[in-house]
Amino acid sequence: MEPLRAAELYVSETVESGGAWLNTPVEDVASTLRWLGLSELDVEDAADRFARIVRDEVFGPLIGGMTERLVRDRGRIDEPIPIWPDFDEWGDAGRLWWIYVVALATPSLVEHYRAAGLPDDIIHRTLSTLKRHVGIHFRKWGTLGVDAGWWMIPIVRAELLEVGSLQFHRLHLGVSTLAPHPWFEDRETHALGPGFRQGDEALGVHIPDGADLSTSALDETFARARHLLATVWPARTRRLATLQSWMMDPRLGTHLGPQSRIVGLQRRFHVTDRWGEDVDNVVEFVFRQPVSHLPGLVGRTSVQRLVLETLRSEGTWRDAVGWLDFDGPSVH
Ligand SMILES: CC(C)(COP(=O)(O)OP(=O)(O)OC[C@H]1O[C@@H](n2cnc3c(N)ncnc32)[C@H](O)[C@@H]1OP(=O)(O)O)[C@@H](O)C(=O)NCCC(=O)NCCS
Repeated sequence: MEPLRAAELYVSETVESGGAWLNTPVEDVASTLRWLGLSELDVEDAADRFARIVRDEVFGPLIGGMTERLVRDRGRIDEPIPIWPDFDEWGDAGRLWWIYVVALATPSLVEHYRAAGLPDDIIHRTLSTLKRHVGIHFRKWGTLGVDAGWWMIPIVRAELLEVGSLQFHRLHLGVSTLAPHPWFEDRETHALGPGFRQGDEALGVHIPDGADLSTSALDETFARARHLLATVWPARTRRLATLQSWMMDPRLGTHLGPQSRIVGLQRRFHVTDRWGEDVDNVVEFVFRQPVSHLPGLVGRTSVQRLVLETLRSEGTWRDAVGWLDFDGPSVH
């Protein structure tokens, strides 16, 4: 289905009640965007266009309906996360709509997390994902917008936290949209036991752009995440952290050598022999270019050279799946 139509369908139940969000005073939107760390220029640009864009017949209802739906869906981690392309070809409304959704939903999200006992630095770091995606959009296109805007869905739904260098996303194996796939077969998970079974809760690990993957940063990240997440999202059974990424392709380990921070991250996980075939993601994350630019790309770093060689000789990359035990041995 055409993605904009799919977005309209996604918000169809909440579009009416969501209209109330559109009456939020622009000063409130601007002060939230400042708190979220957007530059003064970007805050002014977004604020100047707010009154017109919320009246836009396509994007006004989408902004209100999406804000309402994501606030409603907090805690419902198995609600679908649609992976839409960005709507930049629709002009400034298509570029900015996720900025408004995040701004409108932020005050209640901050309250939600404070009530759960999460410290302010983690709340702020998590929500500054918007600023990072605005930065990537600017690097790619030179305009204000949100790269991969759909990534704001788990953030606003309060199921993804950024702690230290990494993001941790609450999910159910085999059920939630971003659960690792392919995963173990049912007969294997029965043998592996709690933590691995269909429906077991796990934490999907994600690596933000520019993350510090040094050994000390990762040690601190996992230590703090274990401490915080045990309070905010207490484990009911053994809980894995899973990672499915272009960074888990075992060939990186062979080619990059032990000093590579990506290889260091990889070694913390049990890398399985399950992977998805991937070209789009690796080209995006390693070149920040669409896959159609592949023939003209030049490898400037060792990872870029390896990715290009592999894609040109084998036509594909591996989004391999890894796991590690997240909670301490006291959780079975
Ligand atoms: C996370 C990140 C900062 C790690 O980079 P790093 O700390 O430099 O990692 P390494 O130490 O393993 O780097 C080894 C080499 O690969 C290069 N490299 C690493 N990640 C790269 C990337 N995403 N794009 C291009 N080159 C990269 C490094 O510059 C270095 O090059 P050199 O050997 O020529 O000096 C980087 O990969 C990044 O920003 N990625 C984007 C986010 C992402 O991919 N998330 C996962 C989504 S599934």
